[in-house]
Amino acid sequence: MVVLGIETTCDETAAALVERGADGRGRILSNIVLSQNDEHAAFGGVVPEIAARAHVEVLDLLIARAMQEAGLTFPQIDGVAAAAGPGLIGGVIVGLTTAKAMALVNQKPLIAVNHLEAHALTARLTDGVPFPYCLFLASGGHTQIVAVRGVGDYVLLGNTLDDAIGEAFDKTAKLLGLGYPGGPQVEQEATRGDASRFTLPRPMFARHDANFSLSGLKTALRLEAEKIAPLSDQDVSDLCASFQQAVVDVVSDRLRVGLRLFRERYGAPTALVAAGGVAANQAIGKALHKLAFQIGTRLIVPPPALCTDNGAMIAWAGAERLAAGLTDGLDIAPRARWPLEEVAGPRAMTDPHPASRI
Ligand code: KG4
Ligand code: ZN
Repeated sequence: MVVLGIETTCDETAAALVERGADGRGRILSNIVLSQNDEHAAFGGVVPEIAARAHVEVLDLLIARAMQEAGLTFPQIDGVAAAAGPGLIGGVIVGLTTAKAMALVNQKPLIAVNHLEAHALTARLTDGVPFPYCLFLASGGHTQIVAVRGVGDYVLLGNTLDDAIGEAFDKTAKLLGLGYPGGPQVEQEATRGDASRFTLPRPMFARHDANFSLSGLKTALRLEAEKIAPLSDQDVSDLCASFQQAVVDVVSDRLRVGLRLFRERYGAPTALVAAGGVAANQAIGKALHKLAFQIGTRLIVPPPALCTDNGAMIAWAGAERLAAGLTDGLDIAPRARWPLEEVAGPRAMTDPHPASRI
């Protein structure tokens, strides 16, 4: 089964072709990502209208290239998948409408994929991880701990009450005059910094739920920076190191609780899986390794290019859904907001009270 996947929910335009074998194994045939970083850099964040227009300009060319690289023509594929949300609505409309047109013209099934579901299932494409596993999803828009029990069967164990982790990195970078996206730059600066120089809070530490809160940390950092302004290069590095250490401590603590909740409800997870752009952070990665080792499970972190937004994850999620008999009508609407636990699965269709699983 071969599926075309289209991703346009944020500032990456992406198209990919992925094959799913009868044994459930995945293979990427092509995976093309075009980042709009340069177009948004001057604004220190993604400008929705610029993003939507940029998607329109390049998407059809990108799809043609993905088809060409895979050496396939439309009659040879089995479905067309697009991220139908959550995300910036202008971009989502571009991707989903394009997918609908291609599905209609080529008489192929359409699969409307939830972007978070695609992040959640990537570890099955890269490592064939069996259900159920514990997912730590940390990106620019989301910070969640999720029990991934099956295709379309996701239970939220923890969530951020305010900023996402990637957003906190981006805002910290902006405050310190570093570029966008901020995560990699803050990480880079942190390698030269003293993490013990500034005392920053560890929000939500030791709470019994597995939720996050990051806006207080960002505010505390701003106050420390204001106290010592103007900032020298070393000050910036020390602030970055102190901030990153606080995030690492918070992630370890919150995930420890999330994994405990997972065990209590579903038994041992087959793995701890990290996804989303923040999973590329090495300090966070080290902490996740330690945590997985401590609880006796393995850590799966897909390669950075598959952790950040890409088309292969959408194509793969589309293939998993198609294999489960889940397709969508051409009347499906794009969604700016679409919580993971509202994603339909084969189970939800027979369960008269799907909400009771949450
Ligand atoms: O998953 P992603 O590519 O896009 C979505 O937000 O969906 O994640 C992008 C986010 C940005 O906030 C970026 O600053 C953050 O991931 N990020 C990092 C690192 N690389 C990317 N954060 C911390 N350390 C990194 N090395
Ligand atoms: Zn994402």
